[in-house]
Formats: sequence, structure tokens, C-alpha cells
Amino acid sequence: MTILVTGGAGFIGSNFVLDWLAQSDESVVNFDKLTYAGNLQNLASLQDDPRHIFIKGDIGDFDLVSRLLNEHKPRAILNFAAESHVDRSIHGPEDFIQTNIVGTFRLLEAVRAYWGGLQGEAKSSFRFLHVSTDEVYGSLEMNDPPFSETNRYEPNSPYSASKASSDHLVRAYHHTYGLPVLTTNCSNNYGPYHFPEKLIPLVIHNALAGKPLPIYGDGQQIRDWLYVKDHCSAIRRVLEAGKVGEVYNIGGWNEKPNLDVVHTLCAILDELKPRQDGQPYKSQITFVQDRPGHDRRYAIDASKMEKELGWKPAETFETGIRKTVQWYLDHQDWVKNITSGAYREWVERQYGA
Ligand code: NAD
Ligand code: DAU
Repeated sequence: MTILVTGGAGFIGSNFVLDWLAQSDESVVNFDKLTYAGNLQNLASLQDDPRHIFIKGDIGDFDLVSRLLNEHKPRAILNFAAESHVDRSIHGPEDFIQTNIVGTFRLLEAVRAYWGGLQGEAKSSFRFLHVSTDEVYGSLEMNDPPFSETNRYEPNSPYSASKASSDHLVRAYHHTYGLPVLTTNCSNNYGPYHFPEKLIPLVIHNALAGKPLPIYGDGQQIRDWLYVKDHCSAIRRVLEAGKVGEVYNIGGWNEKPNLDVVHTLCAILDELKPRQDGQPYKSQITFVQDRPGHDRRYAIDASKMEKELGWKPAETFETGIRKTVQWYLDHQDWVKNITSGAYREWVERQYGA
């Protein structure tokens, strides 16, 4: 038995692959294009593990995906591959359209052909699990209830619009062709191997480097944070017991304004690695120009996951964020390797002025 994971060298995908192989002997074919966000160092511990087969490639490459499917015959496909950074989608949406929409379409086409050729139990137990985001639901007002699975899609950024399109394609392949799909829509993740372009790892990295901690606008935008390993356990549970054709919202019931998150990070760093000059890290906070079209609030109602699949997150924000800061302090070599030329170029473009 084997599963195929796309985007398994990225932040969530690599955490998923590591957790999967820590708990199961079922092998993983890891298919990733290795864009700037893909990093095989995340998977260094699996270097000599025959259960992990890495293949570099694009989900939009129908021929290559078809060949892989026929060669490895996975019983399930988990689609993590995507362009994932909202700010990058604002600077240049093209890659988001290509991977998130066209790529998902081509992947679905290859999977449809493969699944169509399966017989009996192999066909009926096959699953295509599509990993998506809460951003497809748009932005909440302060007093709105959190997003449930029946909320209307109202994506506001090129990123969320491209993810919404991919979700619709996945849904259509179930309704039209009967492909056995599952879709998960998750809130903001944080934890190990998070690329330091995103708020939490960026703030930890900049704080330690003595650089400004950039807060967009007034810093009162709210995100609902989930420790990445809880996202992984939720996906495993959906794969195991989710009902075909259903959507599952995954979240940690941890709504926090950005400024509070940054203050928390600063306080933990003050405790674990105080600045040499005795000043608090929060003195590095700098308010910068807001993100265009910035969604004000996301929040996930994860009660369907709890009621129907018995899933709950293991970490609170307080335990997860402390583990995360400690992980970054213990893995400064990983961060140093990432802050390569391409990464520096991005930081210059986004924050340079
Ligand atoms: P990431 O950017 O860290 O990783 C994406 C991975 O996909 C990278 O390894 C990259 O090389 C690979 N990839 C990109 N284009 C590809 C292509 N055309 N073919 C094959 N591989 C390709 O992203 P992430 O944060 O790990 O997110 C993973 C998935 O989870 C995405 O679909 C994202 O939309 C979704 N998601 C993310 C979050 C979050 O907070 N990070 C929350 C909810 C949902
Ligand atoms: O909600 C799920 C989504 O969470 C995922 O689908 C995306 O792939 C993932 O990147 C994330 O999107 P966000 O835009 O919410 O994450 P980001 O870390 O980029 O920003 C979090 C918040 O912090 C957001 O309100 C913008 C703000 N921010 C971000 C950066 C990078 C700042 O204030 N300053 C910054 O420098």
C-alpha cells in the first residue's frame, strides 16, 4: 500500500510526510516541484528510508503524473501542492493560476483516468484528498459566527480565488465523474519548517536578526491559528473516516489579532533568548503599509470534525507557539540555509522601501 503526497517538501506537506512515516509503515511517494517553498532539508531524516520516494515534478504535468500513478498505484492522493503566499499572489498572480487552478485540473484529469482503470476494492476505497484553506470563504465581521462548511465562497485575493477555483474543480469531479474526493479547509498553520515569509517565522527570524517586525496596517486583523501537527492529524482522520464528497473545516479555536501574536512571540523570545542589550523584542515592532485587500478576520467552526470524526487539536495556542519558538531557536541552521538569494530578493521587494 502506498499514498501519493503532492507538495510534500513544503511546510505542511513535509510535516505530514514526517508524521505519517512516524506512525505507519505505508510508503509515501512525495511529488513536489521544489519551488522556492519546497525544501528537501525538511525531509533529511528520511534520506535512507525506503518508505519515502521523492520525485521532482509539476502537478500540471499530466504525462508524468499519469506515469507515476500507474507505476506506484497509490490507494490515495493527498494534494498539498500549491502556491500559498497571499502577498506573492498580489505581486504576481500568474504562478497561482498555473499551479492552483491549471495544475489541480491536470492532476484531477490524470487521477480520473487512473481511478477509472481500477477495479473492485481498489476502486471503491480510493480517495483524492484536496487540502484547502479557510480563505476561500472571504472575510468575517467581528460579530459574525466562524466559517462553517456551508458558508458561501467569497475569495478576496488572487491566492484565495485560485484555491476556491481548485476546490470547485474537485467538487465538480466528484459530482460529474464520481471521483471519490474529500476536501479540507483549514485555518492558519504554524510550527516547524514554516518558510520565513509568513508572519510567525518571519517575526522570529527578524527578531533574532535585530530587524524590524513588520505589522501590516493596525495589526488588528484576526487569524485562527492551528499547530501544524494538529492539521496533519486532522487530515489523517479525514482520509481514514471522511465521507466521500464532503468538506471538512479544520481549525484550532484560536482567534488572535496579529499584534497579539507578535507580542506573544516577543515575550517568549525575551524569556528564552533575551536581547544582549536588555531591551524587549517588542521594541522592534514597526507598523508598515497594509496588504491590499487585507481580509480582516478568519475563524473556523471545526465542530463537524469533532462531532462526525471525533477530531480535536492536541495543542493550545500557548503550548504550540512555545514549541514553535523553541524549534526555531534549535534549528537556526535550517533558517540560515533558507535565507538564500531568492528569499532575500523577496524581502527586499516586499519590505525594502
Ligand atoms: P508551501 O508553500 O510551504 O508548500 C507548497 C509546496 O508545494 C512546496 O513544496 C512547493 O515546491 C510545492 N509546489 C508548488 N507548486 C507545485 C507544482 N506545480 N507541482 C508540484 N509541487 C508544487 O505551502 P503550505 O503552507 O505547506 O501549504 C500546503 C497546502 O495547504 C496548500 O494547498 C495551501 O493552500 C494549504 N493551506 C495552507 C495553510 C497555511 O497556513 N500554510 C492553511 C490552510 C491551507
Ligand atoms: O488562513 C489560511 C492561510 O493562512 C493559508 O491558506 C495561506 O497559505 C497562509 O499563507 C496563511 O495566509 P495569511 O495571509 O493569513 O498568512 P501570513 O502569515 O502571510 O499573514 C498572517 C497575518 O499577518 C495576515 O493578517 C497578514 C499579517 N502580516 C503578515 C506578514 C508576512 C503582517 O502583519 N506582517 C507581515 O510581514
